[in-house]
Order: sequence, then C-alpha cells, then structure tokens
Amino acid sequence: MARDASGVERGTALITGASSGIGRDLAMVFAEHGYDLILVARNEARLNEVGANLERRHGIRATVLAMDLSDPEAPARIASWLSVEGRRPGVLVNNAGFGVHGPFARTDTGQELRMIQVNVTTLVHLTKLVLPGMIERRAGRILNVASTAAFQPGPFMAVYYATKAFVLSFSEALASELLGSGVTVTALCPGPTRTAFQASARMGPTRLDASGLVMESEPVARAGFEGAMKGKTVVIPGLKNRLLAETVRFLPRRTVTRVVRRVQAPAEP
Ligand SMILES: NC(=O)c1ccc[n+]([C@@H]2O[C@H](COP(=O)([O-])OP(=O)(O)OC[C@H]3O[C@@H](n4cnc5c(N)ncnc54)[C@H](OP(=O)(O)O)[C@@H]3O)[C@@H](O)[C@H]2O)c1
Repeated sequence: MARDASGVERGTALITGASSGIGRDLAMVFAEHGYDLILVARNEARLNEVGANLERRHGIRATVLAMDLSDPEAPARIASWLSVEGRRPGVLVNNAGFGVHGPFARTDTGQELRMIQVNVTTLVHLTKLVLPGMIERRAGRILNVASTAAFQPGPFMAVYYATKAFVLSFSEALASELLGSGVTVTALCPGPTRTAFQASARMGPTRLDASGLVMESEPVARAGFEGAMKGKTVVIPGLKNRLLAETVRFLPRRTVTRVVRRVQAPAEP
C-alpha cells in the first residue's frame, strides 16, 4: 500500500479479534476496499488462514500478530512492534472481546477480570497509543465494537453489558473531543450476531435465539465499515436493533432491566 508524503499508510487497518466472527468479516471488508491489514488475536493459525485468504483474493498485504489481549503488556508490545516496523495504520478497529454468562455470584472471577481487560482496558490503551499519531497526521479512523448491550443493564451478563456501556460512552465522548481533528471514532453496536461469541460465553440456549434479532456477521461488519468511513459516531446494524435501542430510552430503566433478565435467563428445558 502506498504511503503519503508523511509516511502514513492511509490504507492499513489494524484489527483486533480478526480470527473469527465480526472481526474476521471486518478484515474481509477492509481487504475488499484495498486496505492492507494487521491482524491481531490469540489463534495464530486462524489469523494466518484469514490473512492468506484475503491476500490471495484481494492482492493486499496481511500481517499477523498473535497476542493475548488480556495481557496488560499487549498494547505496549503492539505499539513497539508498529514503531520497529515503521507501520502507522490509519485505521484502528478495537473488535476483540468476549462475554461471560451466568449469575454474577457464581461466574469465574479470573475470566470476568480478563474480560474487562480485553473489552475495556486494552481497547482504551490501544486507542491511547495510536491516537497521538493520528491527531498529528490529522487523519485516522477508530472503530470500537460495542453492542446493543451498551444501552441497558444485563442481568446474567452483568459485567459484559457494563463493559459495552463503557465502550459506547468512551467512544461517544472521544468522538466529540476529536471533532474537527481529522480523526473520527465510531462505536459499532451489533445486536445478537451468529458467531463463536455465544459458545465462548457459555451461554447455552436463551430466549434471544428465538427473538428474530440474530444477524449474520457479514452485514454487521459492512455496516461498521461504512459507518466508520462516513465518520458516524454510533452505528446500530439492523432495523429491529435500531428500533429496540431507541425504545429502551423511553422506558423506565427498571422495566428494561426486568425484560433483559427474562431474555438472558438460561432457557427452561
Ligand atoms: N456475537 C454477538 O452476538 C455480539 C453482539 C454484539 C457485540 N459483539 C462484540 O463483537 C466483538 C467480536 O465478537 P464476535 O461476536 O465476532 O465473537 P467471536 O467470533 O468469538 O470473536 C471474538 C474475537 O475476539 C478475539 N479475542 C477474544 N479474546 C481475546 C484475547 N484474550 N486476546 C486476543 N483476542 C481475543 C478472538 O480471537 P482468539 O480466540 O483467536 O484470541 C476472536 O477473534 C466482541 O467485542 C463482542 O463483544 C458480539
């Protein structure tokens, strides 16, 4: 990918969580639009497969960084790698994340703290490390994957919903701070999406499965890409998800929480 006069690779996107689901489809959409890719996740074999496939199909360059983003040192290691390699991606996609399902009193503490690290702390740290260069170059796109979970509390996934509320709030505030800077921040808020997410959160069947809200990951990724390119602050893919997100604003918080509790509760046999 050609660089501009200041050496910026406007056409490179660094995407976390690119080994599966929404992140893998985001990588596909960026590759379709000619972006070189820096793909980050733990599963190196799967990242190599995604990268090689996109290089072959779209003639782009994909570089793989296998890394556990629950390690607090990971963002600094990524920044140092970028500096050593002279890479300055014009797009940062903070997509890596996972959920933990179950009553808070019984969920695994370590897993929940790692989730906060990946969903929140790493996202903030990576943004902090990449942003100054973007501001200096007056160009950059940051796409943070939140969720429609961000709009209300989530009994039986209490910590996960709270992490996504953080991502939405942080992204909206940062987008406002950066108005006129040439750098935009977009929060992508997917509703339930068919990926490995549910299995990794050990969700089992819930009423969500029958809600008619579940989307495929490709249209979610396309909506995220288009929203980020337009500099939109919040993107909610799917009409039903958009309507629901609007509706919860007008209902009493207690009522909304009770509804989510019913939906998120493990399905009765
Ligand atoms: N699916 C949904 O219903 C839904 C709805 C709203 C929002 N989201 C959000 O969408 C994002 C992507 O999730 P998905 O649905 O595409 O699920 P997924 O298929 O399970 O993908 C999750 C991605 O995050 C990576 N990841 C997880 N833990 C990691 C760690 N410790 N270090 C590095 N990478 C890690 C995984 O890669 P490795 O396993 O290779 O590390 C994988 O690439 C998440 O932020 C999720 O919260 C999902």
